[in-house]
Order: sequence, then C-alpha cells, then structure tokens
Amino acid sequence: MAGGGFVVGDGQKAYPGRLTPFVLFTCVVAAMGGLIFGYDIGISGGVTSMPSFLRRFFPSVYRKQQEDATTNQYCQYDSPTLTLFTSSLYLAALISSLVASTVTRKFGRRLSMLFGGILFCAGALVNGFAKRVWMLIVGRILLGFGIGFANQSVPLYLSEMAPYKYRGALNIGFQLSITIGILVAEVLNYFFAKIKGGWGWRLSLGGAVVPALIITLGSLVLPDTPNSMIERGKHEEAKTKLRRIRGVDDVSQEFDDLVEASKESQSIDNPWTNLLRRKYRPHLTMAIMIPFFQQLTGINVIMFYAPVLFNTIGFTNDASLMSAVVTGSVNVAATVVSIYGVDRWGRRFLFLEGGTQMLICQAVVAACIGAKFGVDGTPGELPKWYAIVVVTFICIYVAGFAWSWGPLGWLVPSEIFPLEIRSAAQSITVSVNMIFTFIIAQIFLTMLCHLKFGLFLVFAFFVVVMSIFVYIFLPETKGIPIEEMGQVWRSHWYWSRFVEDGDYGYGNGLQMEKSSSNQGTKHV
Ligand code: BGC
Repeated sequence: MAGGGFVVGDGQKAYPGRLTPFVLFTCVVAAMGGLIFGYDIGISGGVTSMPSFLRRFFPSVYRKQQEDATTNQYCQYDSPTLTLFTSSLYLAALISSLVASTVTRKFGRRLSMLFGGILFCAGALVNGFAKRVWMLIVGRILLGFGIGFANQSVPLYLSEMAPYKYRGALNIGFQLSITIGILVAEVLNYFFAKIKGGWGWRLSLGGAVVPALIITLGSLVLPDTPNSMIERGKHEEAKTKLRRIRGVDDVSQEFDDLVEASKESQSIDNPWTNLLRRKYRPHLTMAIMIPFFQQLTGINVIMFYAPVLFNTIGFTNDASLMSAVVTGSVNVAATVVSIYGVDRWGRRFLFLEGGTQMLICQAVVAACIGAKFGVDGTPGELPKWYAIVVVTFICIYVAGFAWSWGPLGWLVPSEIFPLEIRSAAQSITVSVNMIFTFIIAQIFLTMLCHLKFGLFLVFAFFVVVMSIFVYIFLPETKGIPIEEMGQVWRSHWYWSRFVEDGDYGYGNGLQMEKSSSNQGTKHV
C-alpha cells in the first residue's frame, strides 16, 4: 500500500488532523466563490421581469406583457433575445472552465479563483453601464468567463483543503454561498425594482462587483492546497502547509499519500485523453451524469424565472419578486440542513430523499397549473388559495433540491476524481453543468409556451431516472479520504469490472464494509 495512514475499525483509512480555525477560514473565504455564481442566477430572473428594463432592451416582450390577461399567458415571455441575455453567460462559462483546467493544474487552484474574480468584476461593470442589448450580452459573457474559472477551482480547492471527515460539510460551503448569492440578488431586485425612474436594474446588474471583489481579494490571501503544491513540485512548502492546515505535527502519512498520488499524476501526458482510459470509466460517467441530472431536475426554471413564472400564474410584479425571495430563503435554509447531514447520513440518502420530494412536488405543481390554465393558457380569475398552494409546493421542491442535487452536484464530482485526472474531470463537470444550464435557460420559456404544464412532468420523469441511477450506480463516498477513493469503485458491484487492483496507484488494498448507508458497494 502506498503511503501510510492507519486503518480504523470499519476498514477505512484515517489521517490525524482536526478542523482547525485556519482551514475553516480558508474554506469560508474560498466558498465565497459561489457568491458570484449565485448572484447571477438570482439577478437575471428579477431584472427580466422589470418593466423598465424590458421596455428599454426588449420592447416586443414589454408590449406582449402589457396586453391583458385574456391572452395566452404561457407565451408572454417567449423571446429568443431575452433568453440569450440569460443564457449567454453559461456558454461563456463552459468555454472558460476548459481553459481553467490547465491554469488550475499548472499554476494552482487560487490563480483560477483570482482570474474568476477579475473577469466577473469587468462583466458587472459593463452590465451596470449598458446602453444597448449587445453591451448586456458582452457583460454576461465576461461574467460567464469568471464563473467558469471559479466553479472549476473552488470545489476542488475545498475538497482538497478539508479534513476528510468534514469534507462534505466544508465543500457545501460553496453551494451555501451560491444560494446566499441567489437570495441577496432576489432581495436587491425586489427593492431596486421600486426605484423611481426605472434605473434600478443598473444597480442590480452592477451590484455583482461586490461578490466579485470578495473572491478577488479572497484569492489573494488564500494559500494553495497541499495537493496542488505537491503536484507542482513544492514538497517542503506543502508539508509545512499541511501541518498548519491539519493542526498536527505528524502529517507524514497523508503527505506520503499525496506525493504518491502526485507521482501518478506526473506520469500522465495528456489529462484529457487519459480520461478516456477504461479505469476512469466510473469517474467519466459521474463527471458527465451528475451535472446533467442536476440540471434536469428543472431547478433553474425556478431560479431564473421564478418571478416570470409567478407572474404567469397570476401574481403582480411585486408579489412575484417577493415569492422569489421566499423560495430563495428556503433554498438557503435547506442547504444548511445538508451541511449538517451530508457527513452523517451520507450522500446516497440525501440524493434519494431529495429526489422523492422533488418528484411529488413536480406532480402537484403540474396538476395545479394544468387545472387552472388548461391547455390554452387563459386562467380567468385566480383565487388566492391557488397561488398559495403553488408557491408552497414550489418551496418544498426547492428544499428537496437544496439538500440533495444542489450541493451534491458539486461535492460528489470534486471528491471522486483521482489527482491525475482531477482538474480535467472537474472541467467536464462544470462544462456539462453549464451546457445544460444554458439549454434549459434558452428553451424554458419556449417550452413553457408549447408544453405548458406538461413541462413540469418532463422534469419529473428525469427525477425518476436520476434517482434510479443513483440507487444503482453511485457508491457512498462519505468519510473516505479523497486520495483513497479508489476503494469505492474497486468494491462496487458494477464499477469493479473497470478497475483492476493497483489502479489509481495509491491507497490500494483497502476494503469497504457493506453498511446500511452503503448500498451499491459489495464485499471484495
Ligand atoms: C446549480 C445551479 C442552481 C443552484 C440553485 C446549483 O448547485 O448548479 O444551477 O441554480 O444550485 O441553488
């Protein structure tokens, strides 16, 4: 077995070390990287429902919106340019996350965070001062470049810094700051929309400089991860840092395993083609399927278009933005639940519980909207109780997402990749996430217009598929050191056929016990 580490009672490896204030501080600062992503997600929905913004940049949508409620409500926002405004960011993020892969691997995780912050600052300024639609789109593209860098590096940073026992909780700091970013954006939209003169949208869009500055300054004070220092040949520095991070003098066991992992990593010429090797099949599958499924929950329909959606189901502008604030708060609160539970109950439990909850809510929301709007989209008078039922179920749905696929969609990929493919595989995860965020952002309003309430059933179908996928194919990763993760594949009933003893070069020989929280893993 490479390196040391000692094996604890249940057959898993343990390294000495505790949750030091230093590691807590670095993880909190790094997690702020999620703020920029969240702020963006939350801001666009509100801005695109502000009449002054629509009148200036998207007059045709504005005109349709002004028509009375007897017209087809499903289609009032159906405009390709409007959706391009929201979705251009995700295409840019997709491209930049691929570039970020090399920066993160060759120059360290924090340089990518720094780039992320700077690009995002630039985008926020261009947007805040926008005079024409093209300026809006250029601004969104710059923001997207920033997000690609941040989302590629921050989850890796957190998973590498964290002591393995707290990895889940600390990594979810990223998702927590995404949700805080979304909520702050929604609250700001609510107030800025009220500014007389109708220029509040400039503050909403320009306000993104604040989270951008936080991550820019944050990345200047953060240390790089020991894993990344070793990968770049800085062994002594890495050892000193590891002692400081773990708060113990004897870190030799973990250090040796990191060095071993890094040797494997050095022997690889091209991390991209390497990803295609048979032994990385489980990782590649997860790198693609997890973000794909995360987006197919349909969460961003709510996140981007909550105000628009609430407007469609009969709320006034003000009430729509307010309900978006309510869903935003539920999102934050439920993420805290998953911080509490992820290292206790495990990933699989959260995935499956969250999936069931989302499924029920999607069915109810589809039924409610179908019952009132029918297929022609003319609701007539909408009673108050009706709106309350819809918002309540949307909130329960958001909670289900926020303690399952939301945080785990970033956590699980970042903790399962061996060092030699980590950076490249994480870029695939970010890219797939962004492609499907883009597709959903781009076609949602059109789909709402054509599929009507059935749209929610499409997402419900995918929730069933993803839950079955998790049940059958995703092994439990709770409480396993990151450089020891090879064992979960070696002992999995399906993935073990792709992995041979000695694969991933380190941490071999460890076996995992089957436990109730660990279905999908077999004895070897
Ligand atoms: C997802 C976003 C989503 C957000 C909602 C994130 O994990 O990647 O697409 O909008 O969660 O909280």
